[in-house]
Amino acid sequence: MISIVRARDYNDMSRKAANIISAQIILKPNCVLGLATGSTPIGAYQQLVEWYKKGDLDFSQVSSYNLDEYRGLSGDNPQSYRYFMNTNLFDHVNIDKANTHVPDGMAEDGEASCAAYDAAVAAAGYPDLQLLGIGNNGHIGFNEPDDHFSKGTHLVDLTESTIEANSRLFDSIDEVPRQAYSMGVQTIMFAKMILVIANGEKKAQAVHDMCFGPVAPSCPASILQLHPNTVLVADEEALSLCADELA
Ligand code: PGA
Repeated sequence: MISIVRARDYNDMSRKAANIISAQIILKPNCVLGLATGSTPIGAYQQLVEWYKKGDLDFSQVSSYNLDEYRGLSGDNPQSYRYFMNTNLFDHVNIDKANTHVPDGMAEDGEASCAAYDAAVAAAGYPDLQLLGIGNNGHIGFNEPDDHFSKGTHLVDLTESTIEANSRLFDSIDEVPRQAYSMGVQTIMFAKMILVIANGEKKAQAVHDMCFGPVAPSCPASILQLHPNTVLVADEEALSLCADELA
């Protein structure tokens, strides 16, 4: 079952999510965080940076594993997820960058690189807290709707809907990479706690199917119904198709 926390709007969602992440760091200063990119977590990261600057948070012992990276983009490319993490969070807090991990988009041997990433996440004991956004199509990480759930880190062909959704961040849709490396659904499920954040009407169907639809790979996020400790923090618009179930 997924616990649902209702937020008024994007800011409220971001602050609630940051509070939960912050509690994790306070309770276990050397925790492992699973981190996500995209528009949704930016506000939560800003809030964490603010609390760090006030002296309320210490990232010095925290380590992190990100969900995904575009294939073919290096960490200094402003469109890469490594760059996103550096500029939105890591550059502004006292995390040791050597303890931050993002799949290698430039790996020459992608398969070996994915296997090494899985081994590293496993050796770290899997995330204490995994932060997730959700795609309009129900994807988590870059695990797109399919006829099966993925397991470990793997190369993904992005769907047209994801390429289109992400094109807003590129100069043109032709520049959006067609492939990415993504942590698999099984790896995500090994996290001790999962925190999903969602805002806006575009996410309403995916949020409904994640929480109340059948557990099926056509909505990868629906598998979170089988996770023992998943919390969704979502704003009113993202929850707008769940009115009957939440009544
Ligand atoms: P978004 O992406 O936060 O940019 O909406 C979420 C996702 O695709 O997981």
